[in-house]
Amino acid sequence: MNHPDLSTALITWYSQNKRNLPWRETKDPYRIWLSEIILQQTRVNQGLPYYLNFLKKYPNLESLVCADEKEVLRLWQGLGYYSRARNLLACARVIKTQYNGKFPSASEALLKLPGIGPYTAAAIASFAFNEPVAAIDGNGLRVFSRIFGIRDDIRAISTINTIRALANEMISKSLPNIFNQAVMEIGATVCLPANPECMDCPLQNRCISFANSWQKEIPYKSKVKKPRDRYFNYIIIRDRQKISLNKRKTGDIWQGLFDFYLIEKTKLLDPDEFEDPFLVDLLQRGISICKIGNDHKHILSHQRIYSRFYELSLNPDTALKRITLSKRNALRFYSIEEIVNLPKPVLVDNFLKSYFKSF
Ligand code: ADE
Ligand code: SF4
Repeated sequence: MNHPDLSTALITWYSQNKRNLPWRETKDPYRIWLSEIILQQTRVNQGLPYYLNFLKKYPNLESLVCADEKEVLRLWQGLGYYSRARNLLACARVIKTQYNGKFPSASEALLKLPGIGPYTAAAIASFAFNEPVAAIDGNGLRVFSRIFGIRDDIRAISTINTIRALANEMISKSLPNIFNQAVMEIGATVCLPANPECMDCPLQNRCISFANSWQKEIPYKSKVKKPRDRYFNYIIIRDRQKISLNKRKTGDIWQGLFDFYLIEKTKLLDPDEFEDPFLVDLLQRGISICKIGNDHKHILSHQRIYSRFYELSLNPDTALKRITLSKRNALRFYSIEEIVNLPKPVLVDNFLKSYFKSF
């Protein structure tokens, strides 16, 4: 594939097919920035009136810097993703204080500002300052993955980086702004998610997916797995000033970290619901168990962990203790000082912080 060719075909097509949109008629970084923030999660038709309204009230950075957050949020009402509006104001204030009210022109500097990610930084830098850096949003990822025939998971950061690198290689060095707008326009009007209109596409004879009829398979998007619910009933087995911890084994979360004696079931258990033989044995010897604190919910990326904590104090007179316990898996007793220095899951660490206060 010949890059200058593809870039030229894109730019020619764009000049004949582009929609006239107000943010395409300006080089003012403030207006470009505002439009890109609005369009991040919003369609052009829905975002356009908000863009115009916003500019009426806040025509430039100076006026926005002085705005009240409540007023900015009012103008944003109905657009959703309100952190965009809060970041907008925060970003304006940073530009005012750190950059004397003038937008930095390099994408790398823009990237450090609140609410500005790789796509938005590249969009502002290329549209307002002609930096030859590819601005790739969801539409751009679809267009480029199809052109290059990239079948890898489009959600994976490695795939996104590959596509960014390829696009940065082929971007027009003289008209990077037009190149980026053109890719977006192809994505929005021709290379559609479900039924791309390849017959009208200027890139058809350079597109690997068209040649192989892969349009339906690319971009490949992994499913977001439903988080798994797990129920951790933790038993803190205490022997005077020491408590027992378990070093977690491989094959599950928190490998190598230390937690308590764990009974994992399909729900959080009441004391009379324990069936664990070791625990039942202890309870039958008259050792009592008591619930500590409230139940917790801990969210990990693919699991939700519900936890409940029980304390079980060994009676010094009871003949079991260490001997019985040490036979079982990796349970050992540790002093507070030792525990402080052991690696623990956040869930356990948080619990211990309040537990030790009453120790
Ligand atoms: N979506 C995001 N940025 C856009 C732009 N500059 N023009 C049209 N649609 C867009
Ligand atoms: Fe997308 Fe079809 Fe154009 Fe390829 S030919 S870029 S799949 S619209």
